[in-house]
Amino acid sequence: MSPTPTPPSTPTSSLSPAPSAGGALSSLHSTLPQWRALVEHAHEIETMHLRALESADARRWQNFQVESGPWLFDMSRQRIVSKTLLKLLELARVVGLEARIAAMFRGDLINNTEQRAVLHTALRSNFAGGIDVQAEVHASRQKISSFVGAVRAGRVLGCTGAKLTQVVNIGIGGSDLGPLLVCDALKAQWSGGLTPHFVSNVDRTQLYDVMRALNPAETLVVVCSKTFTTQETQANANAARAWVVGALGEAAAAKHFVAVSTNAAAMDAFGIATENRFTMWDWVGGRYSVWSAVGLVAELVLGSERFEEFLGGASAMDKHFIHTPFEKNLPVLMGLLSVWNRTFLKLPTLAVLPYDQRLARLPAYLQQLQMESNGKSVSREGKSVDFATAPVVWGEPGSNAQHSFFQMLHQGTPTTALDFITPLRGSWGDTEAQDLALQNCFAQAQAFAFGHNLEEVRHEMQKAGVAADQIARLGAHRVYEGNRPSSLLLYPQTTAATLGGLLALYEHSVFVQGSVWGLNSFDQFGVELGKKLATGISMRNDGGSQDGVSRKEGLSGPGSEGIAALVRYVVRQRMMS
Ligand code: F6P
Repeated sequence: MSPTPTPPSTPTSSLSPAPSAGGALSSLHSTLPQWRALVEHAHEIETMHLRALESADARRWQNFQVESGPWLFDMSRQRIVSKTLLKLLELARVVGLEARIAAMFRGDLINNTEQRAVLHTALRSNFAGGIDVQAEVHASRQKISSFVGAVRAGRVLGCTGAKLTQVVNIGIGGSDLGPLLVCDALKAQWSGGLTPHFVSNVDRTQLYDVMRALNPAETLVVVCSKTFTTQETQANANAARAWVVGALGEAAAAKHFVAVSTNAAAMDAFGIATENRFTMWDWVGGRYSVWSAVGLVAELVLGSERFEEFLGGASAMDKHFIHTPFEKNLPVLMGLLSVWNRTFLKLPTLAVLPYDQRLARLPAYLQQLQMESNGKSVSREGKSVDFATAPVVWGEPGSNAQHSFFQMLHQGTPTTALDFITPLRGSWGDTEAQDLALQNCFAQAQAFAFGHNLEEVRHEMQKAGVAADQIARLGAHRVYEGNRPSSLLLYPQTTAATLGGLLALYEHSVFVQGSVWGLNSFDQFGVELGKKLATGISMRNDGGSQDGVSRKEGLSGPGSEGIAALVRYVVRQRMMS
């Protein structure tokens, strides 16, 4: 972790009074004059093509680029002019973004619905959070790295004395996606002879695959669950325990299971030995937790030194976020552009397109980060918003994606905002193959922005000697409208440090967006209803009824008759097959 002597201050502005750190403006941010000015401005921009914007500003590619540390952020193919950024920055100021950043790093209870601090930054930057938090984080880091060192060195062994060579992380959502991404992304840096496996889905397929392939005597299972109550994780952990105990005896559980959680009582009940428990805190949200013991599986596979580099990369981004003027601040600019595209230009989705196979799981990680954080329609004060919030986030690595869904992105009816992300070198240090990736990435960014109009198509076909009637018949099919906005993020290579920086960049961008929309980005009540209803549905006829619906547990709520019919169908079909 990198030390920084100065804690974040709360900068003030002379233009107009900044709102409180909670950003608790009494009404929706859409009532602000700065917001309305952006609505008007968006109408203007909507009539302009990126070609026109480019020809009006010969230095556009330069004017809309920010270079900082290892990053080059190119926003010149966004549908913006200088005025757009000025207006967005002014909006950021009046919604109190500066004060909110300071409040987050200070540990204020900015998760207002749950009355919690939001201090994932304290896991990697020792200038974030209070002294108490830092002491706990330090103690936790010590415990993790000493365990990691012992497993990797073979000082902690399985119950038969075999070296632990396989590590299975059982967790879901934030307790899965972060460590999975880190392991995948840094595969070129695995060391120490441990191979990671991930089990998340409740349908148990992944666990069956693991159980078929692995020898339990050489397997360490990490049960990773902040709450230790998540149905999927509990079910998979219990099944994994039965597998280990079935093969090696009851005493094996203590040697082959460790846990990451805040819930000591549940870890007791599961039988996790005290020395095998790695703590978490309620001030770290699941989707922000990869920096904590949730990253244990990754640290086991990479070693603590690499993991510290990962934390260091994120810490450098934290510093950048706090100390850089908004005009050059990467997360601020990225977040504001996302608000611009989603809310003002009304583009419904964001495609994340890493030109690095190592980042194949990045879109899934960012889906949870953005959609669980900002997929909300009431403000922090509980008022219904009258504007669009989080985009649907999705994506795949290029160049694969070019051969599947790019057709629609280029010529389909919805316009999608795009994030191109690409390292200059491949993860094995390769430049030759990465040249091809870069070449494709740049070409796509250009095609999306500037397109290929009918005149150009006709000209091209004429030059190729195509007959006039064929040109008339096929011309329209070959047109690319363009005007699809994209950002491009370039960095040297996907390493532990740049990966840390990249994830922190997106975290802070999501925070910026939530702040501008006036949301609490740190709760997730939207996941609860389905979980609750699921507990009332049973496929076993254990309630004494004839129809497969457990009367004891009971279905309830609107639509329960339809669900009961589905349960009866399942029971009937299974009896017949
Ligand atoms: O259901 C959503 C969620 O609560 C996520 O926010 C979280 O990352 C995931 O479930 C897993 O939760 P836990 O780590 O408590 O098992």
